[in-house]
Amino acid sequence: MDKKIAIASDHAGRELKDDLIDYLKELGAQVVDMGVNSNVSVDYPDYGSPLADRVSSGEIDKGVLICGTGIGMSILANKFKGVRAALVSDVYSARMSREHNDANVLVIGGRIVGKGLAREILKTWLTTKFEGGRHQRRLDKITEVENRTVKKD
Ligand code: RB5
Repeated sequence: MDKKIAIASDHAGRELKDDLIDYLKELGAQVVDMGVNSNVSVDYPDYGSPLADRVSSGEIDKGVLICGTGIGMSILANKFKGVRAALVSDVYSARMSREHNDANVLVIGGRIVGKGLAREILKTWLTTKFEGGRHQRRLDKITEVENRTVKKD
């Protein structure tokens, strides 16, 4: 399991974020809490972008993003080069997002998934390895598309 995990949320995901931070510490991970740390309404890109940027640059291997549905955070994170963000609400998808998609950002909807299930999803995601092989070939094709269409200033 990766030892250093970054996690960020907006106000709608904060309660789940804080619970998952406790859980990550129980699992022995080093957690980088990138906010938000108040219940005041905020804009999720302001918290998702710094995390996705760190994953994109390779500074951090894996991150977790949480907003109300998880949809905004996943749309945002997938704009960053090299980020493969998976919006997950069940344990099977958590496993497959690692085995087949090598997801490096896990996104959860704090208003969709309960704490118990979210913990199971997170543990499965963190402990499942990418299978490589034909799946790497498919990811390479996504990278080709990314290199063709993504313009970074
Ligand atoms: C905030 O109300 C909500 O829009 C946000 O948390 C997220 O669900 C967006 O996709």
